[in-house]
Amino acid sequence: MSSVAEFSAGRYEDPLAGIDWDAVDRDCWWLPPSALSLSGVAAFEAMPLATRRRLSQLEYVHLLQAGLWLESQFMARLAILAHRTKDAERQVRFLHEVREEAGHSLMFVELLRRSGFGVDKSRGLAMRAVDALGGLVPSNSALFWAMVVVGEELPDRLNRRLRRGVEDDTLSAVVYRIADIHLRDEAAHSAYAREQCRRTAERCARWQKALLSPGLSIAIDLYARHVYYPPADLYARAGLAPGRAWRRAALANPVRRAQVAEMLRPSLEFLRRSGWRVAGRRPARRIESGA
Ligand SMILES: [Fe+2]
Ligand SMILES: [Fe+2]
Repeated sequence: MSSVAEFSAGRYEDPLAGIDWDAVDRDCWWLPPSALSLSGVAAFEAMPLATRRRLSQLEYVHLLQAGLWLESQFMARLAILAHRTKDAERQVRFLHEVREEAGHSLMFVELLRRSGFGVDKSRGLAMRAVDALGGLVPSNSALFWAMVVVGEELPDRLNRRLRRGVEDDTLSAVVYRIADIHLRDEAAHSAYAREQCRRTAERCARWQKALLSPGLSIAIDLYARHVYYPPADLYARAGLAPGRAWRRAALANPVRRAQVAEMLRPSLEFLRRSGWRVAGRRPARRIESGA
């Protein structure tokens, strides 16, 4: 059995202290070129290096903001679960996770602050819809843990991609370090989320899962749409005008569609094995506008 001392002593390292913040640098990629929404689009690949790097920086900032939203949802739910449980071990685990997610969010805030790009607080229609859907889901339910699996695993997969670095070029040392620190904690979060998802799904009747699956599919679809297809004004800020036309190019980009499908695939396969009928649709196909 894990004890408070076991979780607290030695294991926790403050992420803020593990990063050389003076190394924040805009003369490099913040996402690998192959991980951009316009990767492989000929007109984009012909753009100057500075424009393509700036898009990588703005797309990374967009991911940080999505990460902040997601982690705020986790922290709120985990705090409630920690308060409600009668099991001391679970209470310790939940509170430990709150502390780790807070550490991640503090890293994101610090980089956003130093990035000079400013903070965009608009969440767009998709995230407001996910917010509303999520608000209806009881904490600790089978549906809740199914959503947590996707929320934990998608950023984790991106961090693994970031840790592989950039072929023949430079990825920001700060971005690399943030991915490294985030990965360190998230492996345990993902494993725990899968375990809870499996357990709660076993207790959930087949008809209930069939009834709830369309809502789960929509939430995953909207979340992926928001995360992987940034709003038009982001392209304009990168120097790609008109932003709407570049966003349409991203939505139609087969390379991006394949990336998104690949990012989602392991989580969707796991959810299907747990009895959820998640479709794994391609988020871009039906969407032509909006954030
Ligand atoms: Fe996190
Ligand atoms: Fe996490």
